[in-house]
Amino acid sequence: MARELISKNATKSVYRDGDKAIKSFCQGFPKAEVLNEALISARIEEIGGINIPATLAVSVDVDGCWSITKDFINGKTLKQLMDENPDKLDEYMEQMVDLQLTIHSKTCPLLNKLKDKMIRQISDAEGLNSVNRYDLLTRLDGMPKHVKLCHGDFQPNNIIVTDDGTMYVLDWVHATQGNASADAARTYLLLCLEDQNKADKYMELFCEKTDTDRRYVQQWLPLVAAAQLTKHRPEEAELLHKWVDICDYQ
Ligand SMILES: Nc1ncnc2c1ncn2[C@@H]1O[C@H](COP(=O)(O)OP(=O)(O)O)[C@@H](O)[C@H]1O
Ligand SMILES: [Mg+2]
Repeated sequence: MARELISKNATKSVYRDGDKAIKSFCQGFPKAEVLNEALISARIEEIGGINIPATLAVSVDVDGCWSITKDFINGKTLKQLMDENPDKLDEYMEQMVDLQLTIHSKTCPLLNKLKDKMIRQISDAEGLNSVNRYDLLTRLDGMPKHVKLCHGDFQPNNIIVTDDGTMYVLDWVHATQGNASADAARTYLLLCLEDQNKADKYMELFCEKTDTDRRYVQQWLPLVAAAQLTKHRPEEAELLHKWVDICDYQ
């Protein structure tokens, strides 16, 4: 069977090759990041109890392009399903939150700490003045330290649902151990950048199911917004700066 392109962005493409999915990185993509992604995925596989496509190989082709080969998961992303069946949004959102809570119920002691990653990101983020940066780092320092497994990019297009309804979680490169509310704030941010209605439903369900005060998750918003600035996406800048500035008057 010929390779079939399933997803593409500026730095990587994902192909289907029979029962395998091949994530192929562009020339010059840092080797350390590819190996890191494969290592984190392998660590998550070892935990058990979360459906993730098994990593089968890491390779490099004649042009020097690295790739990671995994099991191909036959199904649709939760994003596709949400778009195709808007009437089922509540049901899908509930399944998505339950899946995230399963992830948060696990630990993975060899992963980096979310807080350390956020310190690095906030220190590197462009467009913050020194007072802003100091306030954000002080706030981060005061947040409770936890060691729950956090996916770090938990959103509908990183979940594949098979025909029998089993959910697989992809794209673990940002996984860390840390505070579940920070992970929830990040999911809320990612959903807001796309659809405020979905984001609000998500926040409500997450807080209800975890018996968490919404304000506690909201305290993380300026921090996750500042961290997201390191992605340099001009279309996100306005919203992210607005959230970062909330830090000034809270
Ligand atoms: N193992 C897989 N099986 C089936 N589809 C996959 C698999 N891995 C990735 N995909 C598809 O490719 C898309 C991008 O893959 P992902 O690992 O999330 O990379 P990216 O870093 O580009 O977001 C996913 O949203 C999904 O549609
Ligand atoms: Mg993805």
